[in-house]
Amino acid sequence: SLAGVDLRAEIDRLRKDRNAVILAHYYQKPEIQDLADFVGDSLELSKKAADTDADVIAFCGVRFMAETAKILSPEKIVILPDMAAGCSLEDSCPPEQFKAFRAKHPDHIALTYINCSAAVKALSDIIVTSSSAETILSQIPKDQKIIFGPDKHLGGYLARKFDRDMLLWPGVCIVHEAFSETELLKLKAQYPDAPVAAHPECPPHIIDHADYVGSTSGILQFVKTSESDTLIVATEPHIIHQMEKAVPEKTFIGAPGADGNCNCNICPYMALNTMEKLYVALRDLEPRIEIEEDVRIAAKKSLDRMLEMAA
Ligand code: 13P
Ligand code: SF4
Repeated sequence: SLAGVDLRAEIDRLRKDRNAVILAHYYQKPEIQDLADFVGDSLELSKKAADTDADVIAFCGVRFMAETAKILSPEKIVILPDMAAGCSLEDSCPPEQFKAFRAKHPDHIALTYINCSAAVKALSDIIVTSSSAETILSQIPKDQKIIFGPDKHLGGYLARKFDRDMLLWPGVCIVHEAFSETELLKLKAQYPDAPVAAHPECPPHIIDHADYVGSTSGILQFVKTSESDTLIVATEPHIIHQMEKAVPEKTFIGAPGADGNCNCNICPYMALNTMEKLYVALRDLEPRIEIEEDVRIAAKKSLDRMLEMAA
């Protein structure tokens, strides 16, 4: 039993012993964000994983993020506190179906959101994150036909913004899908001066009411620099922890779901990681991410293109 174990102290001891770096996404529990060596959005976390000189990467996020770390740094041991930490976008896009879809559209390139399996990355041409998608899309010639998957909302947002047709894979993030337009409008009526910052994984009926649309790091930057002292945040609510640390004098209100509060918008996959599981993972160096070498090499090609084009 772990009763009586000082988890924070043990994690600190183990990270030194193992020469481990702890990377965490903004959707992790506050206690995990607070002990991480680095907290960031998907692009920043990928870059950190590619550049670290640690021997072990303890990834506090979801599986596709830890897989990305392993693809970019294959010589490192990459551990994920709970291997069941998946993603609804990844689940929506089985590699065989994606392969068949690509085969039907041979004149299209596949621009693929990083929220997918290593196998789907291996079947893609260029990976994007929400913070790199616009820069990358703007470098692709107008006449190049594009398949965008697996997030139809991010794809739809980019298609509208760039006035560019793309074939969209029908996946959604269950977390951002759960925001209620009716409840958001009620909140806006209650706080008429509060800007809305939204993640592009939100459906268009939420994006339409947003003053800022961007990645988690983009949203964080927006709320820090905004002149408003009250802001509405339409993304996973654990990011509010970072906002309260950065600008404690401001008030942040999580955009609501249909029940009028933001608790239904907690990512159930991200929430699987706990201090206990992180401690056990650092102690046992398990569960470990392993990727077949041919898949890894093919996936690395599309990830490297992202890193080049996003630079
Ligand atoms: P970013 O942190 O890159 O904005 O991604 C958000 C997300 O939903 C990750 O699962
Ligand atoms: Fe996937 Fe959405 Fe959770 Fe991000 S927040 S891991 S996109 S289900």
